[in-house]
Amino acid sequence: MSEDGFQSVKTRILKIFQDLDEGELSEIKDWICNQSYQKDLENMRKLNETDNKLVKIGKAIKKIVPLSAELPDENIAPPTAGDQSDCTVANTCHVDGFLYDDDETEQLVKKGLLKRYYCLDCHSRNIKDLIFISHSMSRITMQYTFKVLLPRDLDKKKQILDVGSRFGNILYGAYYLTNASHIIGVEINQKFCDIQKQIMSKFSIDSNRVKMINSDIMECQDIISNSDIIILNALDFFVDTEQHRQIWKFCKKSFKKGSYLVTTRCVTELLESLNICEELSDWLTICKPCQLENEILFDTDDLVDIELFLYIVN
Ligand SMILES: C[S@@+](CC[C@H](N)C(=O)[O-])C[C@H]1O[C@@H](n2cnc3c(N)ncnc32)[C@H](O)[C@@H]1O
Repeated sequence: MSEDGFQSVKTRILKIFQDLDEGELSEIKDWICNQSYQKDLENMRKLNETDNKLVKIGKAIKKIVPLSAELPDENIAPPTAGDQSDCTVANTCHVDGFLYDDDETEQLVKKGLLKRYYCLDCHSRNIKDLIFISHSMSRITMQYTFKVLLPRDLDKKKQILDVGSRFGNILYGAYYLTNASHIIGVEINQKFCDIQKQIMSKFSIDSNRVKMINSDIMECQDIISNSDIIILNALDFFVDTEQHRQIWKFCKKSFKKGSYLVTTRCVTELLESLNICEELSDWLTICKPCQLENEILFDTDDLVDIELFLYIVN
């Protein structure tokens, strides 16, 4: 490092130090002197490498799907129950969180390819924010899921299931970020399975570890009951209220005891909105993130936006 470069790094570090009290400074000193920062640094670099791979996969998917990231044959409709029932076709816009992070979304808005507002009465300044909704988990949320939320011991014998795997983003995240030997995506739409196959072949993803199944999840009781971690995100734009109820009842019947459920929504609130909370009570227990020490690998600004829930099946 040049003299100037070193000087500039020291200035940046001093700027951080100046806001710390003596106790905090002493903790930082220990963290550096007892070398434990090295492990954190190594983990951060690995996470960065994975992120680059996921960005490349996202770029490849963007080339084969429209900007809306919804396929013409999909039957997507705003839900009539639950916390997203304020969404309507008029006030909601799908921006895929895996394909477009906040910066890219902002660029699309600047280029005029995406609007943030909708006009309430067509000719005035009486406009309103559009609701941006994503049908996919973002890279950062996936990284948090596997590196902070879930237990560390996702070893060779574990099976991860993504219910409704869409582009396969969660499968790729699990592939790069865990050692789980079986990573399965079940997706009802054949076209998304074709996209997943295309991506897996392009990025040489080991098909012995990652499998996708083109099926209705209701037909996959064996796969669910053999899974140790189940990721189930917001199906309510894709199924009607009654189908949604049936899927949750089916999950209760099929999940094995001790398995983990990860969702981006509070399950109690979701089940309440479907009027099946009592029937499914005592089924799940909410858990704290298992590897909180890894939060150090994330920007605090990014952490604010992450909404995730981890449950263990009783
Ligand atoms: C909200 S997306 C979730 C994508 C991905 N799991 C994630 O969280 O990033 C839901 C997906 O579930 C699929 N789907 C809907 N109903 C399903 C069912 N009964 N069985 C399997 N997949 C289903 C939809 O086609 C859609 O691609």
